[in-house]
Amino acid sequence: MAELAIIGGTGLATLKNLEIKNRRVVRTPYGEPSGPLLHGELGNTEVLFLPRHGRGHTIPPHRVNYRANLWALRESGVRSVIAVAAVGGIGDGMAPGRLAFPDQIIDYTWSREHTYVDLELEQVNHVDFTHPYSESMRRMMIDGARELKLDAAEQGTYGATQGPRLETAAEIRRMQRDGCDLVGMTGMPEAALARELDLNYACCALIVNWAAGLGSGESVSMDEIEASLVTGMVKVRQLLEVVIPLIKHAQSDAQEP
Ligand code: HPA
Repeated sequence: MAELAIIGGTGLATLKNLEIKNRRVVRTPYGEPSGPLLHGELGNTEVLFLPRHGRGHTIPPHRVNYRANLWALRESGVRSVIAVAAVGGIGDGMAPGRLAFPDQIIDYTWSREHTYVDLELEQVNHVDFTHPYSESMRRMMIDGARELKLDAAEQGTYGATQGPRLETAAEIRRMQRDGCDLVGMTGMPEAALARELDLNYACCALIVNWAAGLGSGESVSMDEIEASLVTGMVKVRQLLEVVIPLIKHAQSDAQEP
């Protein structure tokens, strides 16, 4: 059973070195996940892989069934999730091409199914979300990036926007004032749902453009995004190969008495 899952974002619809053993279609009380869960081995470590936007990148950020995705992973025995995401850079030095491991998040999304606390419950539970990402998983990614000499921002606040359009320059200025360093469209409700399911969850972000109004050009260049995705995801794959065995190891350590 795989205890670790990778949710692939834009640019990471496949995990090249993953030796796929089986594909499992999982149905959940919340509907269908983005696709079958791909169960395989990376190195000697078992992982589940789920491309967030579907295999052919057909599901836009606001239509991803985040509840079904995380439910399916949890139900399959997953305890930890690395969420890969392409993002725009807002904060100082958050330049395209860098990796980033956010430690905080602000939610600007709306009208997404954002909780499992729903319907007629006997008791409403509130989860603590002060620190939205698993610090130990963040640490492992930070250490892994240092070991591989990959340029990475080791903390930052991720602002989750609704999409699918990119932001206006004024929206980005507002996000800057709010303290956002990164902007992406999939960070929420994914992180909060993971917390509700008691999953260890961390984000490996790849910065693919300067956010609206911050780059040298008049507008955000789709060509720049494409180019950064291609070169950047090579780094993400390298990092995952180093980090995945460590996370597995940490889990089994934690389970020892
Ligand atoms: N904004 C929102 N999401 C993104 C961006 C952006 O600039 N770049 C990549 N994902």
